[in-house]
Amino acid sequence: MKVKNIKSFIDFYSSMGISLRIEKIDRKNLSNLKNLNDLDIKESENSITEGSKNDLKIIYDRILNLDCNLKDIATNMVLNDGKFDSEIMFVGEAPGAEEDKLGKPFVGQAGKLLDKMLNCIGLNRKTNFYITNIVFWRPPGNRTPSKNEINTCLPVTKFHIKIFQPKLIVFLGNVATKSLLKTDEGISKLRGEKLKYVDEENNLSIPAMAFFHPAYLLRNPIEKKKVWEDLIKLHNYLKEKRIRF
Ligand code: URA
Repeated sequence: MKVKNIKSFIDFYSSMGISLRIEKIDRKNLSNLKNLNDLDIKESENSITEGSKNDLKIIYDRILNLDCNLKDIATNMVLNDGKFDSEIMFVGEAPGAEEDKLGKPFVGQAGKLLDKMLNCIGLNRKTNFYITNIVFWRPPGNRTPSKNEINTCLPVTKFHIKIFQPKLIVFLGNVATKSLLKTDEGISKLRGEKLKYVDEENNLSIPAMAFFHPAYLLRNPIEKKKVWEDLIKLHNYLKEKRIRF
């Protein structure tokens, strides 16, 4: 366990407002933490090849041609962030106010919490993960996107997944989980399970996991205690399957 990771672990729990319990959790998790070795964040370049540029252009064109009611009221279309050739793709719900302003996903409070959580297991969006959303424009007042808005954007997200072919997809919250898994089961039931994203049309079957949405964690801090378990599972899975990170 490298010092900076112990620090992120403590920072992570402090940020959850459960600092009174850190001592207990820290000791209890020390055996788990031994698994969290080799967590050096690699300083690889966030390079984007000509091929990925073309793929992204096709995705952009498809998005711009979508007939979505949110398009005219949003400031920016929000597509992606992170390492383009990453083997790990995170999928959220829809942009919020900050994302709408800056045109990038997960740059507000929820995004900051997500980065902090993932940094604990050596994941960093500049160097080793890719992130997108189901819906590309901000729903007014950050309401949950409607069925219609989700269904309008979903074919592009499926196309996005087909083009990028990640080795693991992590759904953030109920909207991503339910729409990509075509299930009515909620996140509380599915988190921690080994899931599969299946796209029969394109003959794709990609391992997946579901995480609580970080915005939900900000609203329900009590749930944050379960996140460490999910992070350990994610980290162990990446190591076991030798997924590059
Ligand atoms: N919540 C999301 O699901 N996506 C974002 O980009 C920001 C907040």
